[in-house]
Amino acid sequence: SRAFGSYSGQPRPERSFGIAFDIDGVILRGRVPIGGSPQALRRLYGDSGSLNVPFLFLTNGGGIPESRRAIELGELLGVKILPSQVVQGHTPFKNLLNRYENELIIATGKGEPALVMSEYGFKKVLSLEEYASHFKNIDPVSQYKNWTTMQAVDSSSHSNELEPRHNVLSNRVKAAFVVSDPVDWGRDIQVLCDVLRSGGLPGQENEHQPPLYFAADDLEYQAAFPSERLGMGAFRIALESIFDRIHHNALEYTSFGKPHPFVFKNAEAVLRKLQQYYSDDCLINSGDFGSQPFKTLYMVGDNPVVDIKGAKQAGHPWFSILTRTGVFKERDNHAEFPADLVVDTVEEAVDYILKRES
Ligand code: G3P
Ligand code: MG
Repeated sequence: SRAFGSYSGQPRPERSFGIAFDIDGVILRGRVPIGGSPQALRRLYGDSGSLNVPFLFLTNGGGIPESRRAIELGELLGVKILPSQVVQGHTPFKNLLNRYENELIIATGKGEPALVMSEYGFKKVLSLEEYASHFKNIDPVSQYKNWTTMQAVDSSSHSNELEPRHNVLSNRVKAAFVVSDPVDWGRDIQVLCDVLRSGGLPGQENEHQPPLYFAADDLEYQAAFPSERLGMGAFRIALESIFDRIHHNALEYTSFGKPHPFVFKNAEAVLRKLQQYYSDDCLINSGDFGSQPFKTLYMVGDNPVVDIKGAKQAGHPWFSILTRTGVFKERDNHAEFPADLVVDTVEEAVDYILKRES
């Protein structure tokens, strides 16, 4: 094992740039690599497979723990990805641990939202699905949801055999987390309205609304379908519109994710740590490297109002690159949030960066 900064026994010039890649619409569409992403990423590694350029994935998506996402991305893209190179929309939720570590909380979204939260250290977290299964008839149309039959059988046998965990029928939910894009909007809106307007116990009198957190607020994003798909921001608008009509107080919530400046500050800190590592067969902290501030940090994104707006707001040392493989498909630059550079693909973006930095 050698320290980052020495390469093939020779002192290597300290890297003063790093790269943040958006995932959906830049690296992948659905689960399919796009824009030459595998080749582009391979250029950031040395011959021995060591990381030559500090980079990370900065996505507003999520639903599985960062460690598992790193393995999944590594398999899809053919490079070794470290868990610390994956920053998802919900990653900052772990900063709320001191507030909710031992409190009853619920988590919803595609994938395994409760597992994500318990890996962050939250001790009393239930998925909204498991939580709702203990409240008979809370979803009046559940029997018509043929597509959930298997799960319904599983979760009902689960709830019949086991006592509800964490006394959900008498304990109040202290916070609700939308971890990833919700799967069953109808059920989730119903159950979240119940939890939020009752003060954390469905069916009870109105009480003060517990805090609600969203991992991101993307109105739309690029998946496998040709046109954009409705994202977490669209779900938030639906929930908020309904909640505000049925409750006397407006919905209170906090959204994380890009374009918030703290996401870019955090990405810079993560890239700085990566700069301190040299990845060969293991990670060794060299100690000396990474003390220099970055000259340039590149954000490669597909969504002008999320990725480019965020990088522009974050200011120095961010340089924004907009690809045409996702939400943005126009010929010219975006009118409201023009990027520093517009390219067709992520491969073109990496080519530009490596030339500019050589
Ligand atoms: O659900 C994912 C989406 O909202 C955005 O993902 O990688 O484009 O930030 P990404
Ligand atoms: Mg994107």
